[in-house]
Amino acid sequence: MNYRVPRTRKEIFETLIKGLQRLEYRGYDSAGVAIDGNNNEVKERHIQLVKKRGKVKALDEELYKQDSMDLKVEFETHFGIAHTRWATHGVPNAVNSHPQRSDKGNEFVVIHNGIITNYKDLRKFLESKGYEFESETDTETIAKLIKYVFDNRETEDIRFSTLVERVIQQLEGAFALVFKSIHYPGEAVATRRGSPLLIGVRSKYKLSTEQIPILYRTCNIENVKNICKTRMKRLDSSTCLHAVGDKAVEFFFASDASAIIEHTNRVIFLEDDDIAAVADGKLSIHRVKRSASDDPSRAIQTLQMELQQIMKGNFSAFMQKEIFEQPESVFNTMRGRVNFETNTVLLGGLKDHLKEIRRCRRLIVIGCGTSYHAAVATRQVLEELTELPVMVELASDFLDRNTPVFRDDVCFFISQSGETADTLLALRYCKDRGALTVGVTNTVGSSISRETDCGVHINAGPEIGVASTKAYTSQFISLVMFGLMMSEDRISLQNRRREIIRGLRSLPELIKEVLSLDEKIHDLALELYTQRSLLVMGRGYNYATCLEGALKIKEITYMHSEGILAGELKHGPLALIDKQMPVIMVIMKDPCFAKCQNALQQVTARQGRPIILCSKDDTESSKFAYKTIELPYTVDCLQGILSVIPLQLLSFHLAVLRGYDVDFPRNLAKSVTVE
Ligand code: G6P
Repeated sequence: MNYRVPRTRKEIFETLIKGLQRLEYRGYDSAGVAIDGNNNEVKERHIQLVKKRGKVKALDEELYKQDSMDLKVEFETHFGIAHTRWATHGVPNAVNSHPQRSDKGNEFVVIHNGIITNYKDLRKFLESKGYEFESETDTETIAKLIKYVFDNRETEDIRFSTLVERVIQQLEGAFALVFKSIHYPGEAVATRRGSPLLIGVRSKYKLSTEQIPILYRTCNIENVKNICKTRMKRLDSSTCLHAVGDKAVEFFFASDASAIIEHTNRVIFLEDDDIAAVADGKLSIHRVKRSASDDPSRAIQTLQMELQQIMKGNFSAFMQKEIFEQPESVFNTMRGRVNFETNTVLLGGLKDHLKEIRRCRRLIVIGCGTSYHAAVATRQVLEELTELPVMVELASDFLDRNTPVFRDDVCFFISQSGETADTLLALRYCKDRGALTVGVTNTVGSSISRETDCGVHINAGPEIGVASTKAYTSQFISLVMFGLMMSEDRISLQNRRREIIRGLRSLPELIKEVLSLDEKIHDLALELYTQRSLLVMGRGYNYATCLEGALKIKEITYMHSEGILAGELKHGPLALIDKQMPVIMVIMKDPCFAKCQNALQQVTARQGRPIILCSKDDTESSKFAYKTIELPYTVDCLQGILSVIPLQLLSFHLAVLRGYDVDFPRNLAKSVTVE
């Protein structure tokens, strides 16, 4: 939203579309915008909606086809909203995409991330009051509900934010919402519960404050029977954020900083149930209830993220770029934390809680998708270094089972985005039961990093490709570093610790060596890309490598792929093996080597033709291999970092050869903020 900053409609379009393109990795089956109509007299504006099925590019093209929209018309104050959708309720099409509207006159329009769980009841109620629905979405209920509240207002001069406040009191589920209305031209209202939302602030002029005090509404119950009428403290300059002297200022509302970072790196993270409103260029934040953090203000923070960090560079896809960034990203994860001279590790975000963690009954490590695999990959080394029982859990299953959790448990939540709904719910579940909660995320300011008691930022840099790559290796290293920190005073573990720390030091160089196999892996992909299925087998430290490799293949190539524990081969998967079935086996020189040789024999005895990922000097395995990919050797518990990279590269090449969009696989989203 711009206030006293003249912008042409073309510039407004460009800002909205660019923002959406940066968010496309979150969901992308349709997109839409709402902007003001041609008349630039603030009071008489109507709202124009343009929505389109498909990627943001399709919407962009559609915008310029609209004859009625003069691109040169200039607005001094303007508030536009835009959304890219990943369908939860209703098929992807223009009607179901956002913004959703209250009525044919577009009196209120809204964009929404999340899911409203009680939308059916609300819809029934609104239909009984004569409101007609056009889409199948849960979001449309919100647009109709705000109109209902507006139509039934008790005073003419009700604030826009008061309407929103009443609406969210009726909503159950998760949401980040931004509203626009013809009744409040030049005003914006946004709110969240469970889904992320932040506000970027840009002004050439000094800002009135760096901390916005929260306004609490006071309830006035005497007046109306069942309705809680609200009264808000008078807004004055000390309760608002604006540019000093009523000068030009622009506010950017977004669910992710990458959408706005090219405009400003000054942001305010909203908390659940915050209602942020902009009117006359002034931003105020209010709430009905005290916030979970009980912080009476919201600070403007400066983000360190740079635009070029989130650009593709010379690579054809973000995923490819992110795979090749791993020598630097793993180094950044360790930077300032591992001291290779003294063989010590210090994770600043955990040091104050270390005593408590050492006394705990068990560690529970929880995540989804790739983040879960990072937990599986490090379970054995964590058990060894912490000498504690370690449970690894898929967040959704953990919740389904109502797993017993106790005050003396320590629960880790692994999440690249820090916003995955299942992981976030598991975090709240453990917190309610008094466990110490630890976040391991890649996103500073994310819900998980804010709601946990302590944590580690993996510092891998922004990850945009939907299929996670560099976040996995950095999560892996973060958990190993935690194990090393826990075992610092165990005399019996000192040699092992030194060996692992030496291994960490050489990782960036060894990763470069693995990346140099890219061409060979491309050739392998040329042989495999027409196949329908691909099995990936291994055990011990490399079981997680197989799960993660198979997940990458499934996600972006749409081939069937399974990660198989080699120890389970004889209990079922062996039935799949024949001359035709492509099999990849991960066999490393580690304590499972002999057992892996058994599995190899079982496969070749059934005419299987295994492609083997093995250590450089492994003449034994290569004798039976159809093909080998030879990897440099590192300490057993870190080998999984090197062995997963060929599988990341293979999935990338397979997807390209099969003609798929690597960064935006069908049906998937980068950050799944719904249960
Ligand atoms: C989605 C993504 C996966 C990711 C998972 C967990 O399903 O497509 O790539 O591993 O979410 O995400 P998180 O941000 O919690 O690590």
